[in-house]
Amino acid sequence: MTQLKARVQLLHERLHQYNYEYYVMDNPSVPDSEYDKLLHELIEIETEHPQLKTSDSPTVRVGGEAQSTFEKVRHDTPMLSLGNAFNEMDLRRFDERVRDSVGEVEYMCELKIDGLAVSLKYENGRFVQGLTRGDGTTGEDITENLKTIHAIPLVLQKPISFEVRGEAYMPRKSFLKLNETKEKKGEQPFANPRNAAAGSLRQLDSKLAAARKLDIFLYSINDFTELDATSQSEALTELDQLGFKTNPERIVAKSIEDILAYIEAWTAKREHLSYDIDGIVIKVNAIEHQETMGFTQKSPRWAIAYKFPAEEVVTTLQDIELSIGRTGVVTPTAILEPVHVAGTTVSRASLHNEDLIHERDIRIGDQVVVKKAGDIIPEVVRVILDRRPEHTETYHMPTHCPSCDHELVRIEGEVALRCINPKCQAQLVEGLKHFVSRQAMNIDGLGTKIIEQLYYNHLIKDVADIFYLAKDDLLPLERMGEKKADNLIRAIEKSKSQSLEHLLFGLGIRHLGVKASHVLAEKYETIERLMTVTEAELIEIYDVGEKVAQSFVTYMGNEDIRKLIEKLKAQHVNMTFTGQKTTEITGHPDFQGKTIVLTGKLEQMTRTEASNWLKLQGAKVTSSVTKSTDLVIAGKDAGSKLTKAETLGTPIWNEQDFIDKQKEIN
Ligand code: IVH
Repeated sequence: MTQLKARVQLLHERLHQYNYEYYVMDNPSVPDSEYDKLLHELIEIETEHPQLKTSDSPTVRVGGEAQSTFEKVRHDTPMLSLGNAFNEMDLRRFDERVRDSVGEVEYMCELKIDGLAVSLKYENGRFVQGLTRGDGTTGEDITENLKTIHAIPLVLQKPISFEVRGEAYMPRKSFLKLNETKEKKGEQPFANPRNAAAGSLRQLDSKLAAARKLDIFLYSINDFTELDATSQSEALTELDQLGFKTNPERIVAKSIEDILAYIEAWTAKREHLSYDIDGIVIKVNAIEHQETMGFTQKSPRWAIAYKFPAEEVVTTLQDIELSIGRTGVVTPTAILEPVHVAGTTVSRASLHNEDLIHERDIRIGDQVVVKKAGDIIPEVVRVILDRRPEHTETYHMPTHCPSCDHELVRIEGEVALRCINPKCQAQLVEGLKHFVSRQAMNIDGLGTKIIEQLYYNHLIKDVADIFYLAKDDLLPLERMGEKKADNLIRAIEKSKSQSLEHLLFGLGIRHLGVKASHVLAEKYETIERLMTVTEAELIEIYDVGEKVAQSFVTYMGNEDIRKLIEKLKAQHVNMTFTGQKTTEITGHPDFQGKTIVLTGKLEQMTRTEASNWLKLQGAKVTSSVTKSTDLVIAGKDAGSKLTKAETLGTPIWNEQDFIDKQKEIN
């Protein structure tokens, strides 16, 4: 056994060494077959003598047992983000701030790798734990997946204990290969290497993560006590010596001019790299100076990220499509010849309203410049007039609803055009979608496509009809199987017992948001009492404004609505408040006490709904972005607030991030 142990020890040493030469140094000293031979020998020994398998064995690179969840772990020190610079002026200001604070300095310029921040913990030179950034305070334990990244050393050259941070990423080549395989299998390809890397690190089965060929660059150390380095450049060299992979394209800059030249050079060269970068990181080099400058709530004062300008591409505007919302607002959408921009294929972009189309003189057939605002939301920036084909015409919104042909109206003070026909089919379908949505009746599995099919096949006309559906009604629908139909029926049944506020909100009463629905349901407790309430009474309630009061009483007084409520009652849909009293709601710890700004246009909910939901979670929703803002949620067309948040380094979510979080909490 001692002999076998010695052999295992030798195999470990050799394999770690060969792995390092191949993956970190890109300079193998033996052919692949030699590595494979030794690895198989080790696998065989470990299979026969499992007690000889250790957590830092080179065989863990192939992945281990699948996990059921990732454990949440608090970071020893928060994983912060960086403030942003978008132009030379921002950089010069940063340089001034630095020199005002610590005098003349040297800077370290590094590439900003477009991947995912991870933290690696070593104890006595052994890799013991790897975490995602998470929300910055708490991350997820993805140790087993990280071990499959060959460039992460499992054992260091010195037995030190410390934490090192860096960016895990998927090289472009692996990304293209992965997507090719996915497409062949008929699966949805990843939008960009960052998403692919994120998806891979979130695989619960580390064998799958192992197949994804990720890589890493390490760029920072938290605690310098066990190291000799006195600057960022020395720290990176020391990381190299310990066996880590750092990015070689770094330089020490002596002045802002050096920084600008580095940025210019990489703006031109970035496309030739084998991995994506989204900017340049500039850090004050001396650790002593870094310590003097310290941190804000969210980011170090001694570093900044220069972000490359949003990519702009040219494509053809093929058509302008109109969609009608639940409240009748008609929104024009640009239908574009599909084009690749900032990592995804874009074929649609909202044009918001007629005014915007006229301001930018956008016409069908035009060549248009498209970019993604905040790198997220596609936008038609301008038309290339020189390339305008002959016979294009100024675009005019229709005078009549494209769905029901009712005349459209422009309400005073609003830019939007509206269809005011209460029987408009498009609006009714949107109303049905709203009724089943998460904050309303929350009927799981009853998505947009199914609602449309049910409506247009005359299986449902109003929201109450949903509760009259039988399994046999569902089975003939597209992509509907026995199991799915059973699940849907079960979900519909379950939703009947939702507390009253969900029903109220789901009915889509104009101006009545989540919060007001809750307030009314809690105060009046039953639908019967709500049907007799007067406008004057409602106005008395804090949180209920005049507009809500008026629209609510008008709604409840409508004979058709009364019939609808009877129809719902007949199917035993709950009409009483069984929810949580507002006073008992303590909110969610992720939002409790946080200051949040909503900006831009949200598509899947109104700003008021979003704001009400956040308030219910204990957040303070404010209107301007300042240093004390904890989070900005940016919808479409977000403007100066988004820019300000980016400058301040405030965390920014898009609408989908917000919805994902809501899903997680609700
Ligand atoms: S230093 C306090 N250096 O960019 C944060 N970050 O918003 C110190 N990143 O979360 C980070 N390349 O994920 C640093 N060379 C680099 C980087 C880098 C990519 C990422 C990192 C961070 C984000 C900054």
